[in-house]
Amino acid sequence: MKTPRTIVVGITGGIAAYKAVNIVRAFVLNGDSVHVVATAAALRFVGKPTLEAISRNPVHTDLYEGVAEVRHVAIGQSADLIIVAPATANSIAKLAVGLADDLLGNTILASTAPLVIAPAMHTEMWNNAATVANVATLRSRGVTIVGPGVGRLTGTDTGAGRMEDPETIVAMALAVLDRLQPGGESAVSAVHDLTGRRVLISAGGTREPLDPVRFLGNRSSGKQGVALAQAALARGAQVTLVAANLEVPVPTSVTTVRVTSAVEMHEAMTLAAESAEVIIMAAAVADYRPKTVQVGKIKKEDVGDTLTLELVKNPDILASLSAARRRGQLIIGFAAETETDADRLLTLGRAKISRKGCDYLVVNRVGPGVGFGTERNTVTVLDRDGVIVNEASGSKVSVANCILDLIG
Ligand code: CTP
Repeated sequence: MKTPRTIVVGITGGIAAYKAVNIVRAFVLNGDSVHVVATAAALRFVGKPTLEAISRNPVHTDLYEGVAEVRHVAIGQSADLIIVAPATANSIAKLAVGLADDLLGNTILASTAPLVIAPAMHTEMWNNAATVANVATLRSRGVTIVGPGVGRLTGTDTGAGRMEDPETIVAMALAVLDRLQPGGESAVSAVHDLTGRRVLISAGGTREPLDPVRFLGNRSSGKQGVALAQAALARGAQVTLVAANLEVPVPTSVTTVRVTSAVEMHEAMTLAAESAEVIIMAAAVADYRPKTVQVGKIKKEDVGDTLTLELVKNPDILASLSAARRRGQLIIGFAAETETDADRLLTLGRAKISRKGCDYLVVNRVGPGVGFGTERNTVTVLDRDGVIVNEASGSKVSVANCILDLIG
């Protein structure tokens, strides 16, 4: 059984405070111990009993309560990770100057745990030069900023400033936590080891249209590719994701290009590859597409009892990116194989990396309940010589981090 980690969720006074309840709940369901530190303003938006019931712990607000147990230091010191969601413009400003005029400010200053913040405010406040500078200061100190997203705000207006979805905040926090050594020193400096690196990732499964309502597809959910994007983002990279038909949300800080088919993905990847330092082809790309796409729906009465499809080969995106590789560009491919025998699986992987011409190949067994659509993954990474350079088994984000470790 895993040891529960201590997650401190700081909630500040914005309307998005009600959504923080879902963050607290996700960590509790994950088996972590969650302590909520809410500002007085936050409690005007969401009730203490709700937060206590969901976190299964007392909720602290007041700096002058529990003074005998030195609470402001105790909570901060016990934290493995601190999340502030929502983080208002005011709380971001306070964090940037290190102000400690409430329990949350004290807790953060007294902690060496990594800090993840999810800003939420009106667009004008987010774009204000003061906020921009404060966010840059926090980022330069190793704070992970998640969002904000663009969308409907509290009033009738729309713009940047909407708190990122709780699901994405939790995923990003888990990506940060994944890299912390249990019982080790704070790994804040290690957290952002890919700062500024331009990483291009493909994710999901392509769909090849047959007619306006039907397509040939595959079972990829896109979870491994999105986990790679989350992990790279959490490590400070600039991430572009070419996304085909994903079943999972993508952090808004990722530049996302939505595509449907293999041909569209080929175009998008070729364009984005021009400025990428690292390319990871995690998508499940259809090898063939219908030769013709019917303009109208294919009708049974026109076809009869047997329908024969003629398929033509799609471009091999990984092979073409590898062939056009710029100097210094690192290219990582995946191999989705159903082979159950471990030795034969590696033999297939070795043949595939020599065909594709990439630098590393992540060999991944797939099938019903394995690899595709699941929360966990087991991979073996081969280099160009077919030598095993890494093996990983665990959550898709931990597998993602193991793959990102290949980036020198
Ligand atoms: N890939 C690609 N373009 C294609 C097919 C696959 O870029 N048309 C990429 C995948 O994204 C993956 C790697 O090539 O990174 C291997 O994909 P996989 O489906 O395992 O192999 P295939 O090349 O399709 O070969 P096969 O189906 O015969 O195993």
